[in-house]
Amino acid sequence: MNYDINEIRSHFPSLASGAIFFDNPGGTQVSQAVIDAMIAYYTTANANTHGAFETSRRTDETIAAGRAALADFLNARSSNEIIFGANMTTLTFNIARALGRWLNPGDEIIVTHLDHDADISPWLALQERTIARWIWQISKSIFRQKPGSLRSAARRTRSAR
Ligand SMILES: Cc1ncc(COP(=O)(O)O)c(C=O)c1O
Repeated sequence: MNYDINEIRSHFPSLASGAIFFDNPGGTQVSQAVIDAMIAYYTTANANTHGAFETSRRTDETIAAGRAALADFLNARSSNEIIFGANMTTLTFNIARALGRWLNPGDEIIVTHLDHDADISPWLALQERTIARWIWQISKSIFRQKPGSLRSAARRTRSAR
C-alpha cells in the first residue's frame, strides 16, 4: 500500500512549525480533526459523566463513541475492552495493583532492561508485598528468536541467575 506522506503530514498543523518531534509518547502530535473535536468538546460539553443534564449526556456520548471507534480500530470484541486513562504510566500502575491481588509471594514479574521506566516502576511497587520482580538483561541474540521461544529463554536465563 502506498501512502501520500505529504497529504498525511498536511493534517498535522504542528509539523508545519519545522520542529522535529522525536519523543512520540512524550508529546504525541495530533491532526486538525483531533484539535477540532477537542475544541468542539470543550465548547459544547466538558462536564462530568453520568449526570442528568445535557452537557453530561454529550460527554457520555463522546466517550462511548470514542471507545466504539477504538474498538473498531483495534478489532476488539466489544467497546467494553477499551479503557481510557490519564496516561500509560498511571494505567500500568493501576493494572499492576489490580493483578497484584492475585499474585503470591514468590511469584515473579519479568520486565526487561529495555522497557521504559513506566513499565518497570509499577511492578517494582509490588515488591512491598514480597512479590519478586526481575529485570531481565536482554542480549542481542533474543531479537533473532521467535516469540514462542521467549518462555524457555526466560526460564534458561532464570535458572542461570
Ligand atoms: C517509550 C515510552 N513508553 C512509555 C512512556 C510513558 O508514557 P505516559 O506519559 O503516557 O505515561 C513514555 C513517556 O515518554 C515513553 O517514552
